[in-house]
Amino acid sequence: MFIAIASDHGGFALKKHLAALLEKEGHMVIDRGCPDESSVDYPDLAALVAQDILVGNAEFGILVCGTGIGMSIMANRHPGVRAALVHRDDYAKLAREHNDANVICLGGRFVSKEDAERFVKIFLSTPFEGGRHQRRVEKLG
Ligand code: RB5
Repeated sequence: MFIAIASDHGGFALKKHLAALLEKEGHMVIDRGCPDESSVDYPDLAALVAQDILVGNAEFGILVCGTGIGMSIMANRHPGVRAALVHRDDYAKLAREHNDANVICLGGRFVSKEDAERFVKIFLSTPFEGGRHQRRVEKLG
């Protein structure tokens, strides 16, 4: 699977951890930055991953900032991107089943590595349910 990933300084450590894990599992990971813990602006990084989704470079995106909030706000300003801020297993599952989310946003300062790994695995392996959710997702634009 092609997966685009990015973080700001607040999510850098978790992003590196997840990128390494996904590569080990055989995914093609497109890392759009940031390259280290120097301070950067999360909207710039979120926009790069949103673009990767929209042009088809990646099937899914992962965005990590301090809380995940700023990344999700920015990603969702791109029509066609459906970014979900996830902090529980069932959110990861429902974001895929009901919302056909294509980007998962995580709070690097609040989510443990173990929890984040689990959220990402659930997110990437859960199919969209379609059916009544299809119409609703279409209304998202
Ligand atoms: C950066 O300090 C912080 O604001 C950012 O990582 C994120 O939490 C924004 O939503």
